[in-house]
Amino acid sequence: MAKIAIASTKGGVGKTSIAFSLAKDLDYRYITNDMSIVLNKYKKAKYFPRNIPLYDDTVYDFGGFVDAHADEILNQVDLILLPTINDLNSIMKSQILIKQFKHKTILVFANMIENERDYEVIKEEIHRYFPGLAFTHMRRTKLLKNALETGMSATELFYSNPQAQYVYRNAFEEYNRLLDLFKRDVGASQNL
Ligand SMILES: Nc1ncnc2c1ncn2[C@@H]1O[C@H](COP(=O)(O)OP(=O)(O)OP(=O)(O)O)[C@@H](O)[C@H]1O
Ligand SMILES: [Mg+2]
Repeated sequence: MAKIAIASTKGGVGKTSIAFSLAKDLDYRYITNDMSIVLNKYKKAKYFPRNIPLYDDTVYDFGGFVDAHADEILNQVDLILLPTINDLNSIMKSQILIKQFKHKTILVFANMIENERDYEVIKEEIHRYFPGLAFTHMRRTKLLKNALETGMSATELFYSNPQAQYVYRNAFEEYNRLLDLFKRDVGASQNL
């Protein structure tokens, strides 16, 4: 039983991509305040432009804009997953969100990592103001994009054929680390 929100006011950092796969792999609802492509790909996806309901077993994917309704939900979820890329604007917007929700459990998702330096920069800049904040990361990969396009979760795509298992092996390991965390128990994320 968990409520997970994927949030960042920065556009294009991978919120929808990761939200879809996580929701499908967890067999959770997917709820969004944005006209997301997931609405056509996942039967448990629903769009709420306002009055967003609070449900258990739900992944919330909030569009890259400020929305007071979304903020109300962010205040009530078990965990906020915050995709951040190595881009000044993305890092700054993440810092603002962390400050706004500093009483919540936040997991920073360093996304589209191309090299160790990318990851280090994001970590350093976030830890400068919020030391000890939990991190996970995912490399630059087509895994999430191709999964969403085909309507398969990352796990479904990975196991769909041997070639996919070869091509996506590293990215899938990173994805699986994140998924495992949620599968075990989001409550355990309090110990992040
Ligand atoms: N790890 C990754 N590696 C490479 N590309 C990625 C990765 N994660 C997401 N992307 C790509 O980045 C683009 C933006 O992703 P996505 O639409 O999920 O972002 P978003 O944060 O939901 O954007 P918006 O704020 O506009 O809703 C997509 O083309 C997606 O396939
Ligand atoms: Mg999106």
